[in-house]
Amino acid sequence: MSEMDFLIENMQNLPAIVDSPPSVQEKFAETFIEFMELSHLYESAIEVVKTYLNNVDGEFSVKFQRNPIHNIESRLKSADSIVGKLQKKGLPLTPESARKNLLDLAGIRVTCYYISDIYAIADMLRRRDDFVIIKQKDYIKHPKKSGYRSYHMIVNVPVHLSTRKQYAPVEIQIRTIAMDFWASLEHQLRYKTSANLTPDISDELKDCAEQIAETDLRMQKLFMQISQLE
Ligand code: GTP
Ligand code: MG
Repeated sequence: MSEMDFLIENMQNLPAIVDSPPSVQEKFAETFIEFMELSHLYESAIEVVKTYLNNVDGEFSVKFQRNPIHNIESRLKSADSIVGKLQKKGLPLTPESARKNLLDLAGIRVTCYYISDIYAIADMLRRRDDFVIIKQKDYIKHPKKSGYRSYHMIVNVPVHLSTRKQYAPVEIQIRTIAMDFWASLEHQLRYKTSANLTPDISDELKDCAEQIAETDLRMQKLFMQISQLE
């Protein structure tokens, strides 16, 4: 049994650990502490990014009397999703392996009002000289085959711990309310069935994504027209 499997099983059944030999108890405690430290680091990294985004959003409302951000959600990947992803990739099931191989342990989803807000937020993240951009994917200019649209970034952010500074990667998905509406429903529909979606259903979903994208563009144009009236 892997360390991570062992950890999960025993977290749900802690009394079993009490009756285990000391070497097993020690190993369990070590892995558990490593996992807790990792969770703390990534939770802190999420807070660093959220604080910055909230500051920037507030600054916008003072300067321009409007907020670019509609909503911010965040999540730490669950232990069983981590195990599932490592297993799928054939990687070792340890906290160290998760840290090295998975860039989406910490995730933030930023929902904006207009397409232009997405690029403004991405620019602001790029402008932080202590953030290191590891990856950027523009699924708005280049939508996925499914029709999915969003701007993705993986940003290494500094977390100031009591005795040192440690960097942790955070996956940031930036999208409009309309893109989020489609992605949430598509995700729900896709996971409702264990079978693959039929080509007809996939085509229909993609068509919905395109209609929604067209509406996003029309709203963006309206926003620009109205801004010029002021
Ligand atoms: P993962 O191994 O899934 O993290 O893939 P990746 O590293 O290639 O990242 P990718 O850029 O494909 O984006 C991953 C994340 O974007 C997913 O976890 C979803 O949250 C979101 N995503 C990507 N494609 C789709 C899609 O077709 N539909 C929906 N609803 N979400 C998607
Ligand atoms: Mg992912």
